[in-house]
Amino acid sequence: MPEAAVFGEYARTYALLYADKDYPAEARFVLDLLAAHAPGARTLLELGCGGGRHAALFAAAGLAVTGVDRSAGMLTRARAHAATLPPAVAARLAWLRGDIRELHAGGPYDAVTALFHVMSYQTAEADLRAAFARAGAHLAPGGVFIFDCWHGPCVEAEPPEVRVRRAEDEAMRVTRICEPHWDRAAHTVTVDYEFFVQDRASGAIGTFCERHPMRYLFADEVRVLLAHGGMEPVASGQWLTGAAPGPGTFSVFYVGRKVP
Ligand SMILES: C[S@@+](CC[C@H](N)C(=O)[O-])C[C@H]1O[C@@H](n2cnc3c(N)ncnc32)[C@H](O)[C@@H]1O
Repeated sequence: MPEAAVFGEYARTYALLYADKDYPAEARFVLDLLAAHAPGARTLLELGCGGGRHAALFAAAGLAVTGVDRSAGMLTRARAHAATLPPAVAARLAWLRGDIRELHAGGPYDAVTALFHVMSYQTAEADLRAAFARAGAHLAPGGVFIFDCWHGPCVEAEPPEVRVRRAEDEAMRVTRICEPHWDRAAHTVTVDYEFFVQDRASGAIGTFCERHPMRYLFADEVRVLLAHGGMEPVASGQWLTGAAPGPGTFSVFYVGRKVP
């Protein structure tokens, strides 16, 4: 079976597989973090913006947002979503194709975000350092970098298992099988995805595979990575609750502030 580029073919099914993801609640959580740590922020750079759902909600809240992704397919969806928004909101959105490890997107920005495990997609030490350095380089002094990632202590206590996800709409029926492979020494879990996509009109089934190597992070590593980008940690906790991470906390967020 052909192996596609990461977020290549997947982009076509992404919105459907994550139709139940609560983007408004996530955007509110991030906007609250901004209000607490960067009050008055007006400009935001979103790294790994994907289909642009968070970006659109940030623009609706009044921020001028530049969304960056390396996947052309995801950016096509972001642009299509923006076209459905009120013109005044769409006018606050800009899209850029690029790699967050070597990004030059103007600025400086009041805030940078990387949401839904974008930083965990940077698996090698050099990739992580580069991505954090570029995030910091785009921030104005006092600006904040907000991101979520796989939480090391939880992943090591409960390594991911094989999972199947199904979703359908009027056009297609999607089945996605995830098979994770844990490399404890490298702090990575390589997730092999196998997709079966049925076109409902013809009944034809197409298949493809993607391999997503993911890096889980520990708080001490994050502190060093933030420092690499000229930032200091100012807040962290369980993603979407802000509570102290417990044994079952798979996703955590961090807020780093650019040191003046
Ligand atoms: C799990 S998706 C999250 C998308 C979006 N933030 C959301 O919440 O729906 C991860 C995204 O990060 C992007 N990405 C990962 N590594 C990247 C890199 N080095 N440069 C640019 N984009 C990257 C992928 O293309 C993908 O769109």
